[in-house]
Amino acid sequence: MEPAGTRQAVKNIADPSKRKKVEDILNSCVLDDATIKKIMDVFEDQVRLANTLDPEKRKQSNLLWECTYVQHLLTGQENGEYIGLDLGGTNFRVVRVIMKNGEATTTTKYYNLAEDLLSGPCQNIFDHIAESLEAFLREENITSTACIPVGFTFSFPSDQKSLKHSVLVTWTKSFKCPDGPGQDACVMLEEAIARRKEMPVKLDVMARISDTTGALMAGNYADKKCRIGVILGTGSNAAFVERIENYNKFDGKDPETKQIIVNTEWGAFGDNGCCDFYRNEFEKEVDQYSNHVNSFTFEKSFSGMFLGELVRLVLVKLVKGGCLFKGKSSPELMKRWEFPTSYVTSIEDDTDTSENTWKILKAVKLADDATEEDVALIRETCAIVSEKGAKIVAAVLAVLLQHINLPEVTIAFDGSLYEKHPKYSLHIGNLLAKLVPTTKTTMIMVKDGSGQGAAFVAAVEYQPSG
Ligand code: GLC
Repeated sequence: MEPAGTRQAVKNIADPSKRKKVEDILNSCVLDDATIKKIMDVFEDQVRLANTLDPEKRKQSNLLWECTYVQHLLTGQENGEYIGLDLGGTNFRVVRVIMKNGEATTTTKYYNLAEDLLSGPCQNIFDHIAESLEAFLREENITSTACIPVGFTFSFPSDQKSLKHSVLVTWTKSFKCPDGPGQDACVMLEEAIARRKEMPVKLDVMARISDTTGALMAGNYADKKCRIGVILGTGSNAAFVERIENYNKFDGKDPETKQIIVNTEWGAFGDNGCCDFYRNEFEKEVDQYSNHVNSFTFEKSFSGMFLGELVRLVLVKLVKGGCLFKGKSSPELMKRWEFPTSYVTSIEDDTDTSENTWKILKAVKLADDATEEDVALIRETCAIVSEKGAKIVAAVLAVLLQHINLPEVTIAFDGSLYEKHPKYSLHIGNLLAKLVPTTKTTMIMVKDGSGQGAAFVAAVEYQPSG
């Protein structure tokens, strides 16, 4: 990334001492090429540790590098009816997929997740899921007499024991039900379904996956070259298709297995301090005031739950240095977590008139004090902080592409940040082309792929129990 001083909004600042202060503050959000290279090297080291044969050594890595037990991609021969359930973002989703000779017809519905559910007992969340599922089955008139296979997208770091069974390691994002860690997501789901006496159809919960695996499966449905699924939403993570001979954590005995989907859980990269070399004071402060301090460090540098707060902290520092609004702030700007990422995406989407930026200035009660120079600086701040985030993501994606080592790879993205940020995909794509020139990379968006992919996993991996 170019130093902040080369940016037009910074160059235009008339007062040299103010310009110097702005440069110092914004430069801490700029990633140079050497730092990008170092992120790749450190990530590769963590991968190597996570994938060693020695389970004790693996513990030195922050990456779960989780075996998903998903060994098959869609072949185009699938038939039948499948349900995907998706828990992990801001709402809960139910997806129905009907496959006819590999062609999918998909219906998705969203169900609200009340905030108090996220910190109460797990049973409340799972009862809500089962209730929503029952409502969905009734609304969609699903009355099949056959048992319907269900794939469950449960997007939290889990120790996966088999395709179906996993143990929650820790909550992330906004979830913090105290009795969650140690529990098995599919068991909790089955128990909640069993508590509802009137389910209109029989359901067979057969897989727990991560949203990344879901995005990958949905991406592979859309494009056979898809080998990576990435979530850039509230949190962030990626899964990819690894050759079985390169993966040491699969204990399946099937000699036919050629490949396995690996869920990296890259959100936790840096929890042991190995990323501190690129983390600035704003990233460290975001962590200190987050729900899960010192946990899932990496995603706090760029994902949807944190990007707005990162920008807000930089703006506050600029105000305190007298570089914005003549040093005067508003209570609205000073409130933690009250500058959502949607503000950043909207400012980044602005045109020459800066209409969106002015609207946001009104929302934080600073429009009356702002000058055109302030507006330009706010826009530059959003641009620089966003660009750093996108480049961090590209650096670790480049490592995955090097592992996959194919001439052409498609990456499927799902999540609100990727969908709504006007420049993230551009920055990621440009840097990937530079870092991995030997792979022609295509990036696609798979909206709601995380849930649809759970139904696809059910379609490729279901083996009726009797
Ligand atoms: C968090 C979760 C991870 C999930 C990601 C994207 O990092 O720990 O499991 O895949 O968010 O939702």
